[in-house]
Amino acid sequence: MRLSVVGCGYLGAVHAAAMASIGHEVVGIDVDERKIAQLASGVAPFFEPDLQDLLVEGLESGRLTFSTDIAAAVGASVHFVGVGTPQQKGGHAADLTYVDAAVDSLLTILKPGDLIAGKSTVPVGTAARLAERIDGSGATLVWNPEFLREGWAVKDTIEPDRLVVGVPVSDGADGSAQGAPSVEGARAADILREVYAPAVATGTPFIVTDYATAELVKVAANAFLATKISFINAMAEISEVVGADVTQLADAIGYDARIGRRFLGAGIGFGGGCLPKDIRAFAARAEELGKGESVGFLREVDAINLRRRDRAVALVVAAAGGSVFEKKIAVLGAAFKPHSDDIRDSPALDVAVRLHGLGANVVVTDPAAIENARRDHPQLEYSADLDEALRGAEAVVVVTEWDEYRRQLAPERAAALVNATVVVDGRNCLDATTWRAAGWTYYGMGRP
Ligand code: UGA
Repeated sequence: MRLSVVGCGYLGAVHAAAMASIGHEVVGIDVDERKIAQLASGVAPFFEPDLQDLLVEGLESGRLTFSTDIAAAVGASVHFVGVGTPQQKGGHAADLTYVDAAVDSLLTILKPGDLIAGKSTVPVGTAARLAERIDGSGATLVWNPEFLREGWAVKDTIEPDRLVVGVPVSDGADGSAQGAPSVEGARAADILREVYAPAVATGTPFIVTDYATAELVKVAANAFLATKISFINAMAEISEVVGADVTQLADAIGYDARIGRRFLGAGIGFGGGCLPKDIRAFAARAEELGKGESVGFLREVDAINLRRRDRAVALVVAAAGGSVFEKKIAVLGAAFKPHSDDIRDSPALDVAVRLHGLGANVVVTDPAAIENARRDHPQLEYSADLDEALRGAEAVVVVTEWDEYRRQLAPERAAALVNATVVVDGRNCLDATTWRAAGWTYYGMGRP
């Protein structure tokens, strides 16, 4: 099939490359000339395992092209919209400027029968509004939210857990049952089944629903994940008071299949370009709908999350003997999570910046995110060399659980480099027993 993908950021670039890899002819479109030039020359603009290979493969096959000109989308029959929906400046709601602009630009080239498939994370009600906007073009709008995780984006796109498609529903006038997909909606769902044929063939759940449900599924999923993380971090706060160990607590409750152990990793909390902004936008939208109280707990989820950064900073200060002023602190990690160079709302960098603000000589290291971190926070010192970062440190703080720190860093070797064998494990990712046995004073999050 011939597809276009409007917006070549994280979501769009991965989607375009992944769709080409399963056999479609895809053109990726973005207004950012630099990004398009990079993608067109086979260079992934961000660190994402497998993306680089997929890009090169797609470009060489001729199935994948990139352009800054929306006219390049002429001839495609399905147009994905994957532009960003950042948090509004000065507010919590989502900024829909880019989504609206993408749809408006598509309006100039749409032909009857085309499909616009929105993938961006949007406040509930957006799809209905956009459907009105394209009314008269003969094209159909569907909402097809994306659930990919950074670091696993290619795999999540090609082999998703589930596919969700919000389609126009019938008012009964076209012969379809009232509330069921309209004839137009059912056709649109069939087209998307064809787009995702390999995943559909392996039995991936394919949920066809209305616009509002599809939009809500996305924000509900992220709100649930954020809540799960903040729940365990709240338990960490209690554990800290009573001397309990939140990691054992998580293991023990996680054995209950109804609860599950995943996303019960207590530490410095969630960050990134999605969870923080999505829960805020959800709460803002609920307020607009007069149902702010229904998701009032998300404010608490946000607050618990941010408190964990304070806690990590306080632990480092305590670990350094009450003050970090003019002391070298090695900060291991800058990315908001491992396998990513993304530093958007990174708890790791936030901790580094706060320690710097307290007068510490912070040296940040990270296997992938140093360049991005340096751009946003030039005031910090960076070293790509882990040993260099550790050398002479008065305290070490692990804030992103890269394998380089979790598995490969031997506590004995690290001990030989630092000035003081004190480690704060902001991600509860080190083996406390091994580190203590090697002479380290170990501080975890929510652990004795
Ligand atoms: C998240 C969702 O997991 C995806 O399903 C969704 O598609 C995506 O947002 C999005 O909306 O685009 P992502 O932001 O890539 O994906 O990252 P996650 O793996 O969810 O991690 C988010 C944050 O939570 C990270 O900072 C991570 O360190 C933290 N986290 C995760 C914890 O603190 N504890 C955990 O147990 C798990």
